[in-house]
Amino acid sequence: LGTRRPLVAGNWKMNGTRASIPVVEAIRDGLTPDLASRIDALICPPSTLISACVAAVSGSSIAIGGQNLHARENGAFTGSISAEMLADLGATYVIVGHSERRAYHHETDDGVHAKALGARRAGLCGIICVGETIEEREQGRALDIVRAQLAIGLPKGATAADTVIAYEPVWAIGSGRTPTPKDIAEVHASLREMLDKLAGEEAHKIRILYGGSVKPSNAREILSVENVDGALVGGASLVAQDFLGICAAY
Ligand code: G3P
Repeated sequence: LGTRRPLVAGNWKMNGTRASIPVVEAIRDGLTPDLASRIDALICPPSTLISACVAAVSGSSIAIGGQNLHARENGAFTGSISAEMLADLGATYVIVGHSERRAYHHETDDGVHAKALGARRAGLCGIICVGETIEEREQGRALDIVRAQLAIGLPKGATAADTVIAYEPVWAIGSGRTPTPKDIAEVHASLREMLDKLAGEEAHKIRILYGGSVKPSNAREILSVENVDGALVGGASLVAQDFLGICAAY
């Protein structure tokens, strides 16, 4: 892993109300000092819960992030939330270009690029998501797809402080299916090589997470793959014991 500190991130998606705050508290209380000294843990709840989550983890090493942002700082964009607004609440990360945003909200790679710049402008670390569909994988195009998504989405001058990459094969999300460790290694190596081209010296410091059906039972195998610097966890992050079980793979 070299100098890259692992990041285990939970994406709650559109799940949770104030009744879910005990989940964050349980993660806070369950993360041992030893683990907290070795990994970064992050929860990305719905925007409505960011304040309460920030309050719940205060004094701990757990970070809170948003799941999406508008690229602009402010303006007539009804219903949208800017990076500055997330930062104002105490969020330090934001997910950018999740495949569900791409699929249901027509987000493009250029839009991802603009949002990543917005995150940087506000001092947030953007987690830029890439990943192929099952059709693209079956056609042998997975590497081309994720490399193109990264090439367009990643702003110039990206650093490890403002950027994390997440590889989430669309067909692995919420499906219980995962690529083989060999397939994950191939994609992550390809993304690392692309980062070398795009981010120069910083490339080896930028973390590349794997996401898609990560569970306590498969975390050790997936997280030990070369160039996998952590996980972006959906379903399993809604259950404190499961999220902690994934962290414990380190
Ligand atoms: O962003 C995380 C996500 O898309 C993976 O979801 O439920 O397969 O862990 P899940």
